[in-house]
Amino acid sequence: MDLVFRQLEMKLRAISNGMNHLMLEPKDPVLQAAIERALVCESADSDVLPLSAVPYAHGRTPRSTALASINSQPHTPSVPEGDEKVDSDPSSATNLDSLKLRLLNCTRCPLWETRRTIVFGQGNQRADLVFIGEGPGADEDKSGLAFVGRAGKLLTQIIQSIGISRESVYIANIVKCRPPGNRPPSDDEISACVPFLCKQLELIEPKLIVTLGNVATKTLVPNAEGIMRMRGKLASWNGIPLIPTFHPSHLLRHTWALKPVWNDMRLIRQQLFRS
Ligand code: URA
Repeated sequence: MDLVFRQLEMKLRAISNGMNHLMLEPKDPVLQAAIERALVCESADSDVLPLSAVPYAHGRTPRSTALASINSQPHTPSVPEGDEKVDSDPSSATNLDSLKLRLLNCTRCPLWETRRTIVFGQGNQRADLVFIGEGPGADEDKSGLAFVGRAGKLLTQIIQSIGISRESVYIANIVKCRPPGNRPPSDDEISACVPFLCKQLELIEPKLIVTLGNVATKTLVPNAEGIMRMRGKLASWNGIPLIPTFHPSHLLRHTWALKPVWNDMRLIRQQLFRS
């Protein structure tokens, strides 16, 4: 797996240096082939499935092939028909579209005053694997999509490094509106918004949740310690296995953290493909 790690390290350096053009190719065939080889070798002496035995790894989830096509566009819910009133209570939503509608024009916390767009989250609505970040940054606030800036590009590379496509996972945040200046969301902002994330997770029913950084981990895991202690350890949210790891923005500032993240990603892959 050393080659895959070194490739990931190069990508991290490139993104840190602002060489975003490197990330424009949706798939890197050389890296993909290296991942294939490395994972097949690894599976010979561990109980990890070879990549070729995992259809999901190439973006097809066995749970719903039809839904596996991602919205790479902002998720636009359909307007309810007839006289149906838009309910704003997340707990009564029966699907992600109706949940998103309940956020329209949300003013539950002061972040509405400075946001441009609500960033609901996007991806495979029946994903086995869900990544949870902290809150939208400037790029996400502009585009309405989670993790599309530099941290998002790195997250894509990290996901692909274990042979999983970004299209096959779901990505969302603890809060749906950008905190000004990218400050961490306050406790009140989190409390106002988190019922939407909880409902999102209930509707998606993933096999595994990955929290990115302190805010996501402490919000979803009661009595969680700091990310330094929590990362790479199996926790749970409502009975669903959860693994915390460092936030990709932390990686962009502290490249030493790539090795632990890489180890966490291998654990994530093992947990996901346990029979
Ligand atoms: N950081 C986050 O936590 N979420 C995003 O969507 C982007 C950056």
